[in-house]
Amino acid sequence: MQVERLTPLFAAEVFGADFACPSSELARECFALFDRCAVCVFRDSGLGDAEHVAFSRLFGELEIAPRLKPVGAVPRFDHPELFDAGNIDRAGTIITDERRRLINLGNQQWHTDSSFRPERSSYSMLLAHRIPPEGGDTEFVDLRAAYDALPPSMRERIEGLEAEHSYWHSRQLVGYPAPTAEEIALIPGARQPLVLRHPRTGRPSLYLAAHASHIVGMDRDEGVALLKELTDFATQPAFRYVHRWRLGDLVVWDNLCTMHRATAFDDTRYPRDMHRTTVIDGSSMPAHSAA
Ligand code: OGA
Ligand code: MN
Repeated sequence: MQVERLTPLFAAEVFGADFACPSSELARECFALFDRCAVCVFRDSGLGDAEHVAFSRLFGELEIAPRLKPVGAVPRFDHPELFDAGNIDRAGTIITDERRRLINLGNQQWHTDSSFRPERSSYSMLLAHRIPPEGGDTEFVDLRAAYDALPPSMRERIEGLEAEHSYWHSRQLVGYPAPTAEEIALIPGARQPLVLRHPRTGRPSLYLAAHASHIVGMDRDEGVALLKELTDFATQPAFRYVHRWRLGDLVVWDNLCTMHRATAFDDTRYPRDMHRTTVIDGSSMPAHSAA
């Protein structure tokens, strides 16, 4: 594989990965790369759904996303491991259902995937099958660099704090209605440390997302203000990379030390077809913590 830095901090472009041969050798090479570059862009991946899933499995168990009502009873993909980040239905028609549009719109807030699950996600792997002629980029920030740049007094203040994360919180921020009991049962939420030490590298990072509603045990307004202050700090341009998609790009990011957000595009006019796999961080799984 040839690696070229896209930003000095954390994003890289990767060429020559042998996806046809998803071996332990390829996994070892990629793990080492992801430890250095938390956002990796594989151009012209040439991957179909089955190969996308097979490559992703090299890095751990894959998440199976719960089927939300607005997403529809008929899955768009034949692989349950694929998460639909696009705006079209199985027939390729642009989605008009308002709740479904709000679910996608929620991704335009800074977030990291699946922080609302007790079993966190390590890598997300997003592949572009169709892209709009303008807009629809994905922006990333490096939360290790942001943590390193915090004043020492702030690092002390946040050490040991936990935030409550809820998928429904981030959806309500964009106008999705208050969740029903059924929806809450489907995705209940989770508490997460505000400072996360990476399970592979040990490097400390902020662990933030629009899913975080408040700080556990702190006055609500004070907690909300703290989350906002940290998010504003972490999303400064100095910590950012903007990805402008090309067809066939597979972008892999490390959810444990980055945030991302989709940028707007005319979603009523242009199809945008994005397939994602999500690897579970084995170190956050109950069997692991009990050991
Ligand atoms: C995601 C996501 C952003 C985008 O798939 O997790 O947030 O640009 N996607 O589609
Ligand atoms: Mn996301």
